[in-house]
Amino acid sequence: MTFKKIAELFTAAMMVANASTLLPASAEDTVLHNAGFENGTDGWSSFGGTSVVSSNAIFHGGESALFISGRSDSWQGAALSSLLQAGKTYQFDAWVFSQTSDTIQLTLKYTDGSGNAQYKGIGSADSAGAWAEINASYDVPADATDILIYFQTASGTNDFYVDDVTIKGEASWSTEALDKTPLKDVYAKYFKIGCAATPSEINTPISQDLVKHHFNSLTPGNELKPDAVLNQAGSQANGDNVTPAVSLDAARYTLKFCEENHISVRGHVLCWYSQTPDWFFKEGFRSDGALVSKEIMNQRLENYIKAVMDKMAEEFPNLDVYCWDVVNECYLDDGSLRKGGTDPNNQESYWSLIYGDNSYIESAFTYARKYAFEGTKLFYNDFNEYIPAKRDAIYNMVADLKEKGLIDGIGMQSHLDVGYPDANLYKQCLEKFNQLGLEIQVTELDITDYKNGADSAQQVQAYHDIVNAIIEQKKAGANITALVFWGITDGTSWRSDGSPLLFNADYSVKKTYEAVESLIPESEWGQTETEFETEEITETEATETESESEEITETEATETESESEEITETEATEPEEKPTESEAVEITKIGDATLDGTVNIVDVISINKAVLGKETLSQQALVNIDLNHNNKPDSDESLAILKYIVGLSSEDDLANF
Ligand code: XIL
Repeated sequence: MTFKKIAELFTAAMMVANASTLLPASAEDTVLHNAGFENGTDGWSSFGGTSVVSSNAIFHGGESALFISGRSDSWQGAALSSLLQAGKTYQFDAWVFSQTSDTIQLTLKYTDGSGNAQYKGIGSADSAGAWAEINASYDVPADATDILIYFQTASGTNDFYVDDVTIKGEASWSTEALDKTPLKDVYAKYFKIGCAATPSEINTPISQDLVKHHFNSLTPGNELKPDAVLNQAGSQANGDNVTPAVSLDAARYTLKFCEENHISVRGHVLCWYSQTPDWFFKEGFRSDGALVSKEIMNQRLENYIKAVMDKMAEEFPNLDVYCWDVVNECYLDDGSLRKGGTDPNNQESYWSLIYGDNSYIESAFTYARKYAFEGTKLFYNDFNEYIPAKRDAIYNMVADLKEKGLIDGIGMQSHLDVGYPDANLYKQCLEKFNQLGLEIQVTELDITDYKNGADSAQQVQAYHDIVNAIIEQKKAGANITALVFWGITDGTSWRSDGSPLLFNADYSVKKTYEAVESLIPESEWGQTETEFETEEITETEATETESESEEITETEATETESESEEITETEATEPEEKPTESEAVEITKIGDATLDGTVNIVDVISINKAVLGKETLSQQALVNIDLNHNNKPDSDESLAILKYIVGLSSEDDLANF
């Protein structure tokens, strides 16, 4: 590329910056998805029971590609959901590879207006030991719902690879959520604010931006569950019948995202009756093996927990996994232990079956305590805990674990519905659990309204009342340390029919969000949660050894002090001794003005708009692009970044500008 060409590009970028409409949000060629499979599957997952992993055996760009194997039918492959929308046109570009000789096809699957499943070929390419490109455009029909795309072969069941997938189209999402004060800041003085997310829920630029903006805790939606982590072939290959093999293939994409963006992780879940393969409980790790003894299962449980902790530490040494749900859902609503049996779909538990009682819970906590990092909090998690019989059974079990020093907190899932439970019943559960003096986290909040629909007055009220109960308990001294919503938008929620969350499918802000935000007066909004948490933990620790009733009174007494002190401190230090911007904030990615983790022409446009005074860069954006350290954006910087984008300079050149 010549300098003249760069100058032309630069002028074009300046012109775009001058134009009255901003290109990226409405342009038809906005990149909606870009997958190089370097850190995992980038949101692509098994379609029809295949194995779908990131592999560095063969690749097109970078050093890895998506490897699809274990197929028993030609339609089986790798799928991507929750991206495409009805009535829109998309451009697809992807590279595919087969060692043998295959036609590899990208297929669109959706349900039409009459409720019938439809399968349409988008494009295909032939590969026989060389990379081939699929390049196609497709109009998704206006009546389509449940839309997904997947790669398959035209015939046969050979393994194949996919790499460098780009999907472009009209961005049809709202960015208004990014203009709100981050919810994690609104609640900074109270507790962490989190969401659950599967890889496909965080594979678009808007969802990543939204998560980075609002949440400081993330729970992988399915990817750290035993069925995602356990590897059957590897377990069998270990050969000793007690050492399960584990892999983070399914979780890697999400964990990497959290590590890179400094989002703390709730590990979910080590021991559960559901989403755990049956072969884990059988001789030889075979589905047709006999049930193993309690002794063997105990060794497997220990080795499993150790292996997960070791793998996490090895692959993600810088990730903050601040807690683990060690055991999930052991009790029934009547307070009895979940029944032993071999059919999880019928609510039966292999754990109860093999152990004959609830002693596996203590085993799991013993091993988690032994192998988890010091400082990682260990939780028991369950649902419907506001039902008194269930609540009390859990209370008693947890009290026993606490005596033994094995547990740090209770998770209240909180999958609720408008009308039940009422906030008072919910509050009674918080009160009861707080008597244990442990941490409490709301781990999976969603409130459906199947009858009146999204954002009904009843739903908004329910969010207001439940979250208010949580806040009141916190103020009364309960050690509530996180409020986590189970999902991000109503469109991809596991209970999407009941529209249970804070954001609409297009990422716009619901009234439920406003209700949650409005519960904290602006005067209490903050920016850091670390200070508050440290202070609070120290106070709780100080009172821990005393009797329960004294402890509650003392916590009540000190809580107000700590809050008011803290607010005063923040106010006092903020206006005058504010450090210079570049001292206060570290570069997240050099050249990245839009804070999406990448550097491209949109960053140049953004800088140019800032130079022209048409846009104000955030402090972080300014630090990322301030190559000449003059604390303001200028055209030297945008030209240098443009040169970098077109390959005429390196990241080092930007750093040493
Ligand atoms: C749910 C996931 O969200 C779904 O995608 C999956 O199909 C089933 O599990 N309690 C839990 C979570 O502890 O792990 C569950 O997650 C929801 C109920």
